Amino acid sequence: MTSTTQSGKQLIITGGSPLNGRCGVSTSKNAILPILAASLLTSEPVTIHKVPAISDVKNMFTLLRAFGARISIAGDDVTITTKSIKTTSPAANIMEKLRASILFMGPMLAREGSVTLPLPGGCRIGARPIDIHIQGFRALGAKSVTVNGHVHAWGRPLHGADILLRFPSVGATENLIMAASLAVGDTVIRGAAFEPEVTDLIRFLNTMGARIETASDRIMIRGVKALSGTEYTPIADRIEAGTLMLAAAVTGGEVDLLRADAGHLKPVCDKLIEAGAEIFPYENGIRIRGRGVRPLNIVSSPFPGFPTDMQAPFMAACCFAKGRSTIDETVFENRFLHVDELRKMGADITVNGRTAYVNGTGRLHGAEVSATDLRAGAALCIAGLLAQGETVISNIYHIDRGYENLEAKLLCLGARIVRLS
Ligand code: EPZ
Repeated sequence: MTSTTQSGKQLIITGGSPLNGRCGVSTSKNAILPILAASLLTSEPVTIHKVPAISDVKNMFTLLRAFGARISIAGDDVTITTKSIKTTSPAANIMEKLRASILFMGPMLAREGSVTLPLPGGCRIGARPIDIHIQGFRALGAKSVTVNGHVHAWGRPLHGADILLRFPSVGATENLIMAASLAVGDTVIRGAAFEPEVTDLIRFLNTMGARIETASDRIMIRGVKALSGTEYTPIADRIEAGTLMLAAAVTGGEVDLLRADAGHLKPVCDKLIEAGAEIFPYENGIRIRGRGVRPLNIVSSPFPGFPTDMQAPFMAACCFAKGRSTIDETVFENRFLHVDELRKMGADITVNGRTAYVNGTGRLHGAEVSATDLRAGAALCIAGLLAQGETVISNIYHIDRGYENLEAKLLCLGARIVRLS
């Protein structure tokens, strides 16, 4: 956390350099955000190590402080102490900056017995409703209404329940685990999400004294009276690791990624091998030797399926394959916003509903493009790394939400990239 989050308007990438070398993978955005929210479950100090300097984390700190947390930062160690929670939610404008603010509902309901939050608006990739979260809170005995764009929930104490999710929502699973951890009695969540970030949250909560176990198709939570402080290092970011591996594959380089966990990336590694790469997992990292890409057929789905967050970067890579690739996005209803930007670089892509057909020509040309969301921004970086000429990417604040110092990492691997501030 020593480096403040990046500022800057554009990234300029000159394509054609193969990536080679070694690079460390930062801590997972999607692991640390629920863990930071879960710190509200105790009044004792919670210390998190290797905290990434990304804007979603910075915004989470702003919200935690607005809820009454005291935050001290020493390098990339952060200690959060919330002796008492202010239940009046901070200004909606702060909440709207961060979709993950919905993850405060579970901890605040569990600890305070009531919570009022502005509805997290939909975002570019979909409506992103919260019905599954609300259904679960009601099963735990809470009442909930939505009035004037705010969601209110209340009920104390929460009681254990047997909950079946209609879809394995990551955020809903995380919210319900946090709420049930302080409920009276036992809770079972069936049809839950099992992404590595959910498992990491469970591991974190158990270091605080929670009693959570998982089986193949369910999560079991035995409610406890209180949780204690702890210190914890969240997992590395599998989506950042996957993005850097793909960059090496596309450019035909050889890259060593420290902290990358192959166990979190099986479907991504399988697709990279299908594309022609060689992958060598080892104790605390992954080495990849890229050889360009071949056409692929990709279907995104909840873990352990192919991660939706890797869909956009892989679409960019498929533009360099010679032949037709198909990409089915089954998780979000509107996650093809990067298609128009890739077309500006010469991509030949047709979209029919939730399926995109990429007629790979083996080449793209540089262009002025704009990041529309976090992973679309990553896709444009992948495209720029091999496109002929110069690519100028605007709205890179999207990228800074979830990739710590991406251009510094690519630069140290040999990319020709510069941030224009
Ligand atoms: C998490 O979002 C991640 N964000 C997303 O990463 C990721 O793409 C997503 O999980 C799927 O893996 C964080 O962890 C902070 P969901 P989340 O609830 O929890 C629908 C990134 O780029 N749904 O699993 O919001 C929803 O509309 C971000 O890092 C309901 O219908 O995802 C979506 O279509 C993007 N009702 C699908 O389920 C609900 O109550 C998956 O959503 C909740 C979700």
